[in-house]
Amino acid sequence: MCGIVGYTGPREAYPVLIKGLKRLEYRGYDSSGVALLSDGDLNVYKKKGKVAELEESVLGKDLSGTIGIGHTRWATHGEPSDRNAHPHYSQSGRLAMIHNGIIENYAQLKQDLLVKGYSFKSDTDTEVLLNFIEDIRSNNNCSLEEALRIALKRIVGAYCILLISDDDPDTILAARKGSPLVIGIGKGEHFLASDASPIIEYTKEVVYVNDYQIAVVRPDELILKNLGNERETPFITKLDMELAAIEKGGYEHFMLKEIYEQPDTIFDCLRGRLLTQSGQIMMGGIENNLNAFINAPRIIIVACGTSWHAGLVAEYLIEDLCRIPVEVEYASEFRYRNPVINQGDLIIAISQSGETADTLVALESAREKGAFIFGVVNAVGSSIARLSHAGAYTHSGPEIGVASTKAFTGQLAVLMMMALKIGHAKGTLDEARYLRLMNDLATVPEKVKEILQDTANIKRIAEKYKDASDFLFLGRGYNFPVALEGALKLKEISYIHAEGYPAAEMKHGPIALVDEKLPVVFVATRDSYYEKIVSNVQEIKARKGKVICVATMGDEIIPGMADDVMFVPDADEVIAPLLSVVPLQLLSYYAGLAKGYDVDKPRNLAKSVTVE
Ligand code: M6R
Repeated sequence: MCGIVGYTGPREAYPVLIKGLKRLEYRGYDSSGVALLSDGDLNVYKKKGKVAELEESVLGKDLSGTIGIGHTRWATHGEPSDRNAHPHYSQSGRLAMIHNGIIENYAQLKQDLLVKGYSFKSDTDTEVLLNFIEDIRSNNNCSLEEALRIALKRIVGAYCILLISDDDPDTILAARKGSPLVIGIGKGEHFLASDASPIIEYTKEVVYVNDYQIAVVRPDELILKNLGNERETPFITKLDMELAAIEKGGYEHFMLKEIYEQPDTIFDCLRGRLLTQSGQIMMGGIENNLNAFINAPRIIIVACGTSWHAGLVAEYLIEDLCRIPVEVEYASEFRYRNPVINQGDLIIAISQSGETADTLVALESAREKGAFIFGVVNAVGSSIARLSHAGAYTHSGPEIGVASTKAFTGQLAVLMMMALKIGHAKGTLDEARYLRLMNDLATVPEKVKEILQDTANIKRIAEKYKDASDFLFLGRGYNFPVALEGALKLKEISYIHAEGYPAAEMKHGPIALVDEKLPVVFVATRDSYYEKIVSNVQEIKARKGKVICVATMGDEIIPGMADDVMFVPDADEVIAPLLSVVPLQLLSYYAGLAKGYDVDKPRNLAKSVTVE
């Protein structure tokens, strides 16, 4: 949700900012802008639309300056427009600020400022906060840093802000609460960003700023303070990321690249953990807390979106293999309905970005209630990873496409290993099945490769049905969450309305939608529900619905019934979601492509949802 970038040092700031904004564009692309400071002149350029439009609009303008800040926006307060784009000038025109987050008490602050004679050029909460800071500075005749500190103590909400002033040619003031901020440490220069992707090509040494910290950033100095004005020691971390990982590498889109990376990312996730030779699963976070897992009276899984779907698969896995009751919660609801968390209950948080505000806030409140939190996170060093007591990274690498693909399969791989390990240690999963499932899991990267070898059939199906206005996705058992995920992907990328349902539930309502125009996708791989789902397929065919199936290679019954079939290799039903989701990812990709949409940046969405 909004990407921010900043630079102070000897280089020209604009190229650093614009490149950084392109890398952060997945976080929001309603508008973008930069503020550059050169010889006391504070120039702000901003434009509705994607970063490329900003670039075009500044041709011929004065882009000089060795200090600057940039922003790419996902709109919250105020429609996407030039005037609501960031950076914002303060009333005097002497300060410029960018902001990621929401200031919840902005309306009252704005009212107070209006009474004092301030006027506003935008509808944003950001401009209110900036003028609030300016007002404090002039009333108290204090430094900008002091004014910022006072303001932050009085606002409610989430923020990551970067602030520059025309009377300080070197300094960027930064602060965060609830929205991420990374500072890259170069030689005589500093880089600031929402994540490490704009920084990686300049330096691998970074500091993750914590909530309630203010950073005073100059070319050769980085000072961190808390809101009480006490200095805190910056903790320098080495980035474990290569530039190639955040570039398209010859693929037309990040989404396609990330789908195709899955044989490798799943392999990386399993590597060193799933030891089929010795029959061991090595996961430090589980190992060190094995008793807590084995004896847990209940596991609560908290997540959003695709990660929530991974959580649903985990519910089936953990209940089936470990016999521990599991509840899967939408993070946004979990926090606000005052949930019961009992002694010994364990929380598993699942998040690709590790920055999703709904999940983060839910975890913070669960942690306050004494819950033990286990994080299944992709982004190393992210807020959720740091908040968790223990965890397991998915090692899927940076995911840039807004639609989550490889992160989902990484989450499934981690959750499957967890369930196998806990079930085996607890004795609820017998040795023979444990070893069989381990071996099956180990073959997944090769099987995904097989699916990806020839995708022409999936592309053909996507093009055939691209003009449908609605889709149904149905599955049973382990494949039910896969059906939900297939529907979500299609909605996100092709803007076709799609619903996911348990296949048997269809007859309790959704079947009324079925006619010759409705494509119904069945996730119908061979499992213990196979005969039942075959009957469900018949029910749709009897009503003239168009049936598209994901089926197991070698299945001879489904092809005789379905209009179109996408095959996946055979696997135990516990492992099957890792395979059956892949054709659905491709189906949505090709449908979006056929409709001419920007599949990496679908409308209204952002990759990292850092507002509640
Ligand atoms: O980063 P997270 O996994 O916490 O994100 C959760 C959701 O916002 C995310 O999965 C979203 O639904 C994706 N756009 C799905 O493709």
